[in-house]
Amino acid sequence: MCGIVAYVGHRQAYPLLIKGLKRLEYRGYDSAGVALLNADGLKVFKKKGKVAELENELKAREPLATIGMGHTRWATHGEPNDKNAHPHYSSNSKLAIIHNGIIENFATIKKNLQKKGYEFRSDTDSEVLIQFIEDIQKETGATLEETVRLALHEVVGAYAIVIMTEDDPTQLIAARKGSPLVIGIGEEEFFFASDATPIIEYTKEVVYLDDLQIAVVRNGELTLQNLDKTTQIPYIQKVEMELEAIEKGGYEHFMLKEIFEQPRSIADSMRGRLNAEDALLELGGLRGYMDKLADAKRIVIVGCGTSWHAGLVAEYIFEELARIPVEVEYASEFRYRNPIIKEKDIVIAISQSGETADTLAALELAKSKGATILGVCNVVGSSIARITHAGAYTHAGPEIGVASTKAFTAQVTVLTLMAIAVAKKRKTISEDLYRQLLIEIDTIPAKVERVLKASEKIKEIAYIFTYARNFIYLGRGLNFPVALEGALKLKEISYIHAEGYPAAEMKHGPIALIDEDMPVVVVATKDSSYDKVVSNIQEVKARKGRVIAVVTEGEKQLHELVDFVIEIPKTHEILVPLLSSIPLQLLAYYIAVMRGRNVDQPRNLAKSVTVE
Ligand code: F6R
Repeated sequence: MCGIVAYVGHRQAYPLLIKGLKRLEYRGYDSAGVALLNADGLKVFKKKGKVAELENELKAREPLATIGMGHTRWATHGEPNDKNAHPHYSSNSKLAIIHNGIIENFATIKKNLQKKGYEFRSDTDSEVLIQFIEDIQKETGATLEETVRLALHEVVGAYAIVIMTEDDPTQLIAARKGSPLVIGIGEEEFFFASDATPIIEYTKEVVYLDDLQIAVVRNGELTLQNLDKTTQIPYIQKVEMELEAIEKGGYEHFMLKEIFEQPRSIADSMRGRLNAEDALLELGGLRGYMDKLADAKRIVIVGCGTSWHAGLVAEYIFEELARIPVEVEYASEFRYRNPIIKEKDIVIAISQSGETADTLAALELAKSKGATILGVCNVVGSSIARITHAGAYTHAGPEIGVASTKAFTAQVTVLTLMAIAVAKKRKTISEDLYRQLLIEIDTIPAKVERVLKASEKIKEIAYIFTYARNFIYLGRGLNFPVALEGALKLKEISYIHAEGYPAAEMKHGPIALIDEDMPVVVVATKDSSYDKVVSNIQEVKARKGRVIAVVTEGEKQLHELVDFVIEIPKTHEILVPLLSSIPLQLLAYYIAVMRGRNVDQPRNLAKSVTVE
């Protein structure tokens, strides 16, 4: 977590850093700070709260400088307050650091420094690192670059760092291990950032720093070396992202924009892969791995949060169509339980950001055990995308709202395409079904458009339940993960306690919670488990629970039985999650807005979880 941005060049750095930090705020928003270097020396300004609060504080005295760096924090070591905000000075205040990640052995290093008389102004691991660098510099007299290298050799943990020194107004030093860092290369100017969003309006040319690399900009030149000092040639890539993709475009929140973008993001996730008319389907990123996938004895899917839910949907679809056993694992559990990985197992990681620490570690473990590892990621060039053998990008465009919406439907779309392609290869589905599925999935964007038309009705339902204290979400089959995802969306942005269950599981415990104060959202589409779900709804109604049902258009029976109905168009059963998840996103969104929550940046959360 945490967002970092830095600049050296000919522009005023302060406004650029503030703008950049606002774009990176999705990564953490406990506190923010900037460091700027001008004739008055190296100055740090920082404040608890959001970037806007820092900006407000500095309004009267916008600092002038053409080199600087900024940080927006998601607290790990030390509570979110002014003193723990980054940047951090070293003892002599000549060096400053911004850091994203965790220095795991900071306590030992700190103790040694304390013995030498160093005092600390914050509780952070990051301050320990910059003090350590100052100490090595004093002891060895080495250049700053060499000192940073020596310090990083001693560090256990994850980091993306940028360091400035009062002694050189042309120099920025950056390094990474496990946390992302992009370098933007402009005309006689350089940018560093956690992702490309603060950079793209100035330059589209970027270099993604690799793990254990150090980048130094000095006197207008960039050099790249590995930690072991071997020089690297910077591989310059073009970012495709456009500015409008990272702006709100008239919507009140990014989350709402992203929910409404789904007809396009789902279409984008299929673009160039599907030609339904000619029954052609090919995922270019998996070319060369389709035989392995088709030959797999088992597929293990790893992910966290919403991505894990997408994995659960994929489990149903892969098993149903391709008849390959699938296991879906929380990446955080998988990585620590010595999992059995066999030859011909395929491990697929699902991750919007491509940077989630647990998912990355799970993949590394699977790779070390000889598995073929594949990725389904949204962020191009992300760590997961780079360590996997192959993969398929979801192409949903930047997702900025902390609660995942369009990334989820894009993940499900891509995984569904993968399952269909594998099933065709394995001949586990008929040619007829194959064609029918391609034609049907091609119609999903238009059907999502129709679901979104129900937004006003969903808003009215949200109004009625604004002050509910609990919610239960139920679904069966493919709609069970949809129920889990609906509950997650509600709790994370509205802070209402919500639980998702397989509908049939309710009678094994949760039914005790049902009374007239318990809203129950049931995904009850017309599919193979419809009759069973109707029975589960009867059980809720018999105990006076209030039911909001997501049903298939044309359905009659449930209109009589439940309190509120939200209709979605009919589609093939395996594609239902792409439609049924959307009303639940809207319901969570409107309830959260009505409760006055900050839906784009809910408390305690960050978009990219790069710590364990
Ligand atoms: C929920 C949400 C999180 C993420 C999870 C994994 O709305 O966004 O649960 O899904 O942190 O993140 P990625 O997909 O980036 O690996």
